[in-house]
Amino acid sequence: MRSAKDFFRPLAVGAPTPLTEIPARPSRAIHFFDPSNPKMAAKVPDLVGKVDVLLGNLEDAIKADNKEAARDGLVDIAQKTDFGPTQLWTRINSLDSPWVLDDLTTLVPAIGDKLDVIMVPKVQGAEDIQYVDRLLAQLEAKAGLDRPILVHAILETARGVANVEEICAASPRMQGLSLGPADLAADRRMKTTRVGGGHPGYLVRQDPPKNDVGVPDVEAKRTTYQQDLWHYTIARMVDACAMNGIYPYYGPFGDIADTVACEDQFRNAFLLGCVGTWSLHPKQIAIANRVFSPSVEDVAHARRVAAAMGDGTGAVMLDGKMEDDASLKQCLVMVELAEQLAAIDPELKKAYDAIEVDA
Ligand code: GLV
Ligand code: MG
Repeated sequence: MRSAKDFFRPLAVGAPTPLTEIPARPSRAIHFFDPSNPKMAAKVPDLVGKVDVLLGNLEDAIKADNKEAARDGLVDIAQKTDFGPTQLWTRINSLDSPWVLDDLTTLVPAIGDKLDVIMVPKVQGAEDIQYVDRLLAQLEAKAGLDRPILVHAILETARGVANVEEICAASPRMQGLSLGPADLAADRRMKTTRVGGGHPGYLVRQDPPKNDVGVPDVEAKRTTYQQDLWHYTIARMVDACAMNGIYPYYGPFGDIADTVACEDQFRNAFLLGCVGTWSLHPKQIAIANRVFSPSVEDVAHARRVAAAMGDGTGAVMLDGKMEDDASLKQCLVMVELAEQLAAIDPELKKAYDAIEVDA
């Protein structure tokens, strides 16, 4: 066990001091691109300022033969591009792969000053984060970096889910967690074949109506309600992240054509406490930006409650509903998020600024 005092000391001589708080930078969409694909790479500069996070993917979806090209491509893109307000992240290969060491030892010296967050896949427990933590400190010290690169873990193994709290608490570098529904489904031996999203077979059914003689007619037509396969895991992630002051994200939604179900899945995650999601196609960026930004109506209501609550104590009635300290706190989450987003999104700023509050 490390003592509380040691926790915020650099893990290598000359490495930057760990942050005591992870900044709340808007990251509604983490847009994945393949740096080995010249067509995709050429589009990266056009996405700067239009998406909160650009992520150069080195792991799954990159063919083994292209791993080096992807790594070199990312270095090249990062060195040539001014990312302005957009964050640059990467997803390195898994810690048991033959590529990950070269990923880290290449990226940190070459573009460590541009990389905000390194996403680590298939994290199983605190030991995986501690390995990356020390290695990053050594590489940062060698490269003379002056701010620590943050770490984001993908939750995509049963052991990772069982250890989610210790993963979040393993290092001051921990920025957040994403759900990895495809790998997680395989690791759990779930009987699905999709990349995220729902499944029509996972449902509950209305009780059977009774026939003329009062006997339940199980063959009668009944309404079914599809359930969310990911509710349990997302809820665990949200709690583990909140207790550690870091940020939870939904992950991939593989059915690119089904923009409606994608929006539903993203919204469930937003309502449960996630701050963003992955985008696998440019059309998912717009969905994520819409879903993970509080609506004008919600911000208007939140500001109205804040104004009516004055010093924040006691209770008031607004439109027949009781508001108190606890509902005010929920409203303040919304107001704070709106302020952070308005600072980087001029359209949203205009919409939020136009709200008139009458208590
Ligand atoms: C993402 O990496 C997933 O496995 O879903
Ligand atoms: Mg995965």
